Amino acid sequence: MNFCFLLLLQLPLLLVFTTTSTANIPPGSSLYASNTSQTWSSPNNTFFLGFTQVDPTSYTVSISHSTAGVSIWTTGNVVAGTASAAVIDYGVEFQFLRNGNLRLINGSGAPVWTSNTGNLGVTSASLDDTGNLVLKAGSINVWSSFENPTDTLVPSQNLTVNQTLRSGVYSFRLLSSGNMSLTWNDSVVYWNQGLSSALKLTSPTLQLKSNGILTLLDAGSQMSVAFGNDYGEGGEVMRFLRLGSDGNLRMYSGGTTTMTWAALADQCQVYGYCGNMGICSYNESSLSPICKCPSLNFEAVDVNDSRKGCKRKVEVADCAGNVTMLELKQTKFLTFQAQQIVTIGITACRVNCLSSTSCMACTSTSDTYVLYCYMKNTPDFVSGYQGPVLLSTSYIKVCGPVQPNPLPSDQIGGDKKFRESRGWKVGVLVTGTIWGLAALVGLFWWFCCKNSPKFGGVWAQYTLLEYASGAPVQFSYKDLHRWTQGFKHKLGAGGFGAVYRGVLANRTVVAAKQLEGIEQGERQFRMEVATISSTHHLNLVRLIGFCSEGRHRLLVYEFMKNGSLDHFLFSTEDQSGKLLNWKRRFNIALGTARGITYLHEECRDCIVHCDIKPENILLDANFNAKVSDFGLAKLISTKDQRYRSLTTIRGTRGYLAPEWLANLPITSKSDLYSYGMVLLEIVSGRRNFEVSAEINQKRFSEWAYEEFEKGNVETIVDKRLADQGVDMEQVMRAVQVSFWCIQEHPSQRPTMGKVVQMLEGIIEIARPPAPKALMKGSTSGTSTNLSSKDSAQSTCEASAPPPSSSSSI
Ligand SMILES: *[C@@H]1O[C@H](CO)[C@@H](O)[C@H](O)[C@H]1NC(C)=O
Ligand SMILES: *[C@@H]1O[C@H](CO)[C@@H](O)[C@H](O)[C@H]1NC(C)=O
Ligand SMILES: *[C@@H]1O[C@H](CO)[C@@H](O)[C@H](O)[C@H]1NC(C)=O
Ligand SMILES: *[C@@H]1O[C@H](CO)[C@@H](O)[C@H](O)[C@H]1NC(C)=O
Ligand SMILES: *[C@@H]1O[C@H](CO)[C@@H](O)[C@H](O)[C@H]1NC(C)=O
Ligand SMILES: *[C@@H]1O[C@H](CO)[C@@H](O)[C@H](O)[C@H]1NC(C)=O
Ligand SMILES: *[C@@H]1O[C@H](CO)[C@@H](O)[C@H](O)[C@H]1NC(C)=O
Ligand SMILES: *[C@@H]1O[C@H](CO)[C@@H](O)[C@H](O)[C@H]1NC(C)=O
Ligand SMILES: *[C@@H]1O[C@H](CO)[C@@H](O)[C@H](O)[C@H]1NC(C)=O
Ligand SMILES: *[C@@H]1O[C@H](CO)[C@@H](O)[C@H](O)[C@H]1NC(C)=O
Repeated sequence: MNFCFLLLLQLPLLLVFTTTSTANIPPGSSLYASNTSQTWSSPNNTFFLGFTQVDPTSYTVSISHSTAGVSIWTTGNVVAGTASAAVIDYGVEFQFLRNGNLRLINGSGAPVWTSNTGNLGVTSASLDDTGNLVLKAGSINVWSSFENPTDTLVPSQNLTVNQTLRSGVYSFRLLSSGNMSLTWNDSVVYWNQGLSSALKLTSPTLQLKSNGILTLLDAGSQMSVAFGNDYGEGGEVMRFLRLGSDGNLRMYSGGTTTMTWAALADQCQVYGYCGNMGICSYNESSLSPICKCPSLNFEAVDVNDSRKGCKRKVEVADCAGNVTMLELKQTKFLTFQAQQIVTIGITACRVNCLSSTSCMACTSTSDTYVLYCYMKNTPDFVSGYQGPVLLSTSYIKVCGPVQPNPLPSDQIGGDKKFRESRGWKVGVLVTGTIWGLAALVGLFWWFCCKNSPKFGGVWAQYTLLEYASGAPVQFSYKDLHRWTQGFKHKLGAGGFGAVYRGVLANRTVVAAKQLEGIEQGERQFRMEVATISSTHHLNLVRLIGFCSEGRHRLLVYEFMKNGSLDHFLFSTEDQSGKLLNWKRRFNIALGTARGITYLHEECRDCIVHCDIKPENILLDANFNAKVSDFGLAKLISTKDQRYRSLTTIRGTRGYLAPEWLANLPITSKSDLYSYGMVLLEIVSGRRNFEVSAEINQKRFSEWAYEEFEKGNVETIVDKRLADQGVDMEQVMRAVQVSFWCIQEHPSQRPTMGKVVQMLEGIIEIARPPAPKALMKGSTSGTSTNLSSKDSAQSTCEASAPPPSSSSSI
């Protein structure tokens, strides 16, 4: 009986998929909101057009993908019926009129949406298998849904310069310069990204390729502008690009639950995400953005939707003579218009805004040598962002005394809450005083030393105060020079610069890395430092602080007593003390994999390491593996790390994935390749690229696979471990994982999370195919056959030309 009931429920759904293909929609036909199972389908039923219910009382007409269940185009909502009666208004109708007009009418017959194609000679309407609804006059396209997009772009759809994706107040456009931009309320551009300002384009078009690469077409050239993290995989999956109602542009595979790319990694950078006067921050436990009001002097515009913003309980206008400035530390009001900037200090910024009748709020921020003050005047929209790594302080006018927000009340009980809040007030007083003093010192410095390059030192003092909050500390070059005894004890020299031992004033031993070849500006450097220092994991080396003064850029890390893994694996002389037993090796392999998994999958701004090798795997006093140098590739590389020449490659030969040399995009899968090589080295104690008579003059990795094929896994294992206990089952797992990781095609390699599970023995490991002979030929990534739908071809098509070749366009 239950079974029958279920069958009945399935019936309408079945009907959707079994309606006869109506390639052509006959003039004079209609769809009705009262029957959502009636649809117009594309010839092979991939897409269908029909009514969808949005909520109990409203409907929309949309084009949807039949298996992914994703709507790619809609007319907007129409109200049908009232909340009380669950009755659908039979008059709501989508018509293809005989005069060639498409329109949606409500119950009273009033048009809610129309294509405005009446009397233009339209003779036919059809929905094709790519999801495009086309109105034609003879063979001429008069109107199409692809040319009138809503919030979604699908493969084979073109987004040209005057077309816009919209979602609420947000819009996405392709500019004539070829830049992509996101705009709030058609006025504030909060994301604007391009290839290179040197490129001169004629009429650019943006396309999402079915292989997951967002591509810019211009005058016969193709340039890749963004990659989904699963690009080149799963050719059948339905990919799409969508502007969300939260103002972020994302790429998806299969459905909205599988996001593969986002324009803004930091959601709080979306202008107006929390509404006017709302403050965006992150919930530390779930890492999702949350919206708050600045203080209890404000209330939410809509208690049920924190994203609608805040309003003052008492307006400033009703409060003459009693206006105060509410101070918001580590907070900035997002600003994209340059004209409101003045270069004055933090106190002057506050005072100036307070005394100006038009100023409503202000943000004081620094750029090493200069203090900026951004004023927000009365009609302006104020969009706030609060985060522990922001070196900005903001003020907003409130009426009467400041009423701070209460502390999160999760764990605080009644009595304790009282004490805590008192303690908190004292804290505010104390930190307020410190900040006041610091501001005074700052002002003093500013007056006497504003022309001196040493001015940055003031900010060094400022940020030292933030040490306790876990933010990276900014050190002065002078102090680091002293603490490292004039950079005397060199610990090593990596791809990014030399590393020196140092002892901080509080006796902490550190490793200071002097970065070379930084091309980025101060602001960007600080942003990257903030990202690196917010990345905490047991298997990642912790960043303690940084220094950025003139050309000096240093990163200060915790010191690792046992140095790097290579010293233990490849030590030539017979140092028995330096030999790692199998148990330690396996733990190092697992720890390294966990550290990289965190970088790839679990932290907020996911990081591709780009240079995994034994030199970058450090060992603490207990031989726990800690991955170092993550996040640095981004600092060094040119504008977009995907546009690189061989000279900018920072990775190390032997560990470099083939896609580096083939000029294909670098993704987290490239790290898997390097990890696979390291894993093989951990097992064997030899460099993967080593060639010797003992292994028949073959590259070690190739020889190892042959031995594995023959079933001689024990010959791969480090000879020095011969008389020690070696867990052959773990060795077998490690060797097979390693071969999976060094597969030539990135999509064949597992994810780092899978690697951890395979090593742990949680999941079965299939027998790995032979890693192909690597780096032979195919250094040119240019495509030969663009029309081919074959996935390997598409990956070639993905090739991003290096700057030299793309500038010839
Ligand atoms: C709804 O539309 C389907 C397909 O056109 C049709 O078979 C069915 O009879 C309709 N149902 C009603 C209640 O009109
Ligand atoms: C249909 O739309 C018109 C114009 O917007 C409006 O006046 C009318 O009330 C609507 N009818 C229904 C039933 O919603
Ligand atoms: C329908 O046609 C489209 C475009 O030609 C094609 O990509 C898709 O695989 C086809 N789907 C089916 C189910 O045949
Ligand atoms: C998109 O643009 C390409 C090249 O500019 C063109 O060949 C193709 O027909 C366009 N597609 C649509 C649906 O307009
Ligand atoms: C875009 O619109 C502007 C103004 O309406 C027009 O001058 C320009 O030619 C259009 N560009 C394209 C590529 O259609
Ligand atoms: C959006 O812009 C319009 C005019 O361009 C303006 O009237 C409106 O107030 C703006 N919206 C907000 C929320 O500021
Ligand atoms: C295009 O984007 C780049 C940053 O990627 C920016 O520097 C440049 O000013 C933008 N150009 C235009 C015309 O918006
Ligand atoms: C933060 O996230 C956790 C877990 O999702 C949730 O329980 C908590 O209420 C959130 N806190 C805030 C302030 O939203
Ligand atoms: C918020 O939601 C509650 C319960 O759903 C409702 O009673 C109340 O009217 C809503 N408030 C607003 C301002 O929409
Ligand atoms: C200023 O605020 C205080 C405290 O809320 C209040 O007692 C006083 O009357 C206010 N003064 C004016 C001029 O409104």
